[in-house]
Amino acid sequence: MSIRTLDDLLAEGVSGRRVLVRADLNVPLDKQTGDITDDGRIRAVLPTLGALVEAGAKVVVCSHLGRPKGTPDPQFSLSPVAARLGELLGAPVHFATDTVGDSARSTVADLADGQVALLENLRFNAGETSKDEAERGAFADQLAAFGDAYVDDAFGAVHRKHASVYDVPARLPHVAGRLVLREVEVLSKLTSEPERPYVVVLGGSKVSDKLAVIEALLPTVDRLLIGGGMCFTFLKAQGLEVGTSLLEKDMVETCRNLLERSEGKIMLPVDVVVADAFAPDAAHDTVRVDGIPSHRLGLDIGPETVAGFAAALSQAKTIFWNGPMGVFEMAAFAAGTRGIAEAITKADAFSVVGGGDSAAAVRALGLDESSFGHISTGGGASLEYLEGKTLPGIAALEN
Ligand code: 3PG
Ligand code: MG
Repeated sequence: MSIRTLDDLLAEGVSGRRVLVRADLNVPLDKQTGDITDDGRIRAVLPTLGALVEAGAKVVVCSHLGRPKGTPDPQFSLSPVAARLGELLGAPVHFATDTVGDSARSTVADLADGQVALLENLRFNAGETSKDEAERGAFADQLAAFGDAYVDDAFGAVHRKHASVYDVPARLPHVAGRLVLREVEVLSKLTSEPERPYVVVLGGSKVSDKLAVIEALLPTVDRLLIGGGMCFTFLKAQGLEVGTSLLEKDMVETCRNLLERSEGKIMLPVDVVVADAFAPDAAHDTVRVDGIPSHRLGLDIGPETVAGFAAALSQAKTIFWNGPMGVFEMAAFAAGTRGIAEAITKADAFSVVGGGDSAAAVRALGLDESSFGHISTGGGASLEYLEGKTLPGIAALEN
C-alpha cells in the first residue's frame, strides 16, 4: 500500500501550517441527557492530534455525528464533543458553530500554532453526503480552504464516499493518521493468512446488514458463530418457530441457502433468553431454541450457547467479533454478550473487536480493553474491509 503517513507529514514540518484532520467523533449520546456515553472514538484520535499539536500545527478537526439530514439540527451538535476533546487533550478546543461559514472561517483564522479547532457537524451540509459529484466537490472546496494539508484519521468513515473523506484529499496533500494506519494494519492480518483456527462471532440485529460479510467470510473462516437478533432468521430457516423475536422474513430463504453451503461452519444458539416485552424489567426465561413460546421474543443467547461458543473460541488462534449477542444495554439480557467477550479475552488468540456497538459493549460491561488484541473504531468500515471492498477513504489516500 503506497500511502503517505502522518510521520511523513511531520518530517516535512508542520509548525505554523494548518492541518485539516478528518476524525470520526460519531460517539453515542444519551437520548435523555445528551451526554457522551462512550468516548472511545475521541480517545482513539488523540495520538494523531497530540503529535500535530506538539509539532506546532494549527489543527482543524472535522467530523460527522449521527445522521442529520444536510441541515443544522441541534441534537447532533458536536459541541459536547469539543468540550470532551479539550479535557482529554488538556487544552481548550476552539469550537466553530458552523462547518464552513463565518464562525468556521474566523475560528480557523484565529488559531495559534499548536491550537486545536473543531468544526460543527459536517452533515449539517448537504454537500457532505451528496451523490452529486459537483455538489460534494463544492463543499470539499470550502473545507479544503481550511487546510494546507489533510490527515484522514476517521477509520469509522472510510467506507463512505463523502466530501470530507473522498473529495478533500484530492484537493490537498494527504496522509493517513495513526489510527487509520493501525486499523488497516490489523485488519489486513485477518484477510491475509490468519493463524488458524480462525473463528468469527457475528451478532447485531439484521442479517441483511451482515449478508455480504457472511458470504465473504464463509470460505475463509473455520467457524462462524451467530448470535444477536439476526440468529432468529437463521433459526427460522432451520424450521424452528421464533415467537415474536426479530425476524427478517425475506431473508429466511437466503439463510437456509447459507446454512446449506456452510459445510457445518455456522454455529447457531441452542438456547435463548425470551421475554414478554422489549423492556429492562420484562419477565424472562431461558428456553431451548425448539421451545420458543409464540408470544415471547428472544433478547439474548442462553448459557448453554455461551458455553458452546466459548468452547469454539478457546480453540481459536484468530478471532474477529462484530455485534452484540443480545440487548446488552439491559442488564437482564447482557449475559450473552459478556460471556462471549470474556471467552474472547481468555482465548490464546489474536482477537479483533470490530464495530461501534461491540466496542461500546466491551467498555459498558467494564471489560479490560487491553485484553483484546485490537478494538476497532469502525463498524461498517471494518466489515467492508473484511468483505474485500474498495474503501473510498483509503483509495483517496492512495492516489
Ligand atoms: C459509524 O458509526 O459507523 C461511522 O461513524 C459511520 O457512520 P454512518 O454509518 O452514519 O456513515
Ligand atoms: Mg454505522
